[in-house]
Amino acid sequence: MKIFLDTADYSAISERYATGLVDGITTNPTLVRKSGVNYFDFIKTLANDFAFESISAEVDGKTAGEMLYNADKYTKIGKNITIKLPLNKEGLIACKELSRDLVATNVTLCFSVSQAVMAAKAGATYISPFIGRLNDNSFSGVELVRAISGLYCAQGIHTKILAASLRDVHHVSRCLMYGAGVVTLPPSVFDKMYNHVLTDAGLSIFENDFKNIS
Ligand code: E4P
Repeated sequence: MKIFLDTADYSAISERYATGLVDGITTNPTLVRKSGVNYFDFIKTLANDFAFESISAEVDGKTAGEMLYNADKYTKIGKNITIKLPLNKEGLIACKELSRDLVATNVTLCFSVSQAVMAAKAGATYISPFIGRLNDNSFSGVELVRAISGLYCAQGIHTKILAASLRDVHHVSRCLMYGAGVVTLPPSVFDKMYNHVLTDAGLSIFENDFKNIS
């Protein structure tokens, strides 16, 4: 059971990395644009500064050839760089080629079981179903995770389900229960995973009682 952070904010990563509970990072062009960093430099810095098992770098390109060309500079950074590709025909062609070369891949923007089948056929290391965006459109994101997981188990597929677009802790737990091997969380959701109002209340009572015992 792995937890990745879904952010391009260096200090947010650094702070949570110190917990020892973060296994990897996912990024996307929107997160990078918001943080204002240079995408390549950012990925390189993460690879240098932390020991993550996977850092997803999303590549641009309309054709598989363009995606592969753009992937090349990232794969040179290190073994823990995962190339993030769109779930369309060109992305799948690029995925197949990278898988052949033993480069880790994350096929992103998955919204259906059939798409997850094709990503597995292309040899994807990770498939990223987008839970929140499905929920926003009146489909159940967690049910998609359950269906993909059932199919992958039945077919003995090794592609890992990386549940993405997670906005609350309830959906995180559900995805893990339904077979996601990885969840990628915004830093705020990561923090909520261990916070609970009753823990705070209970701790405050215990702290007071500590003062009154020998
Ligand atoms: C995952 O790889 C994506 O970066 C991310 O989870 C998308 O989340 P959003 O739908 O909240 O933008």
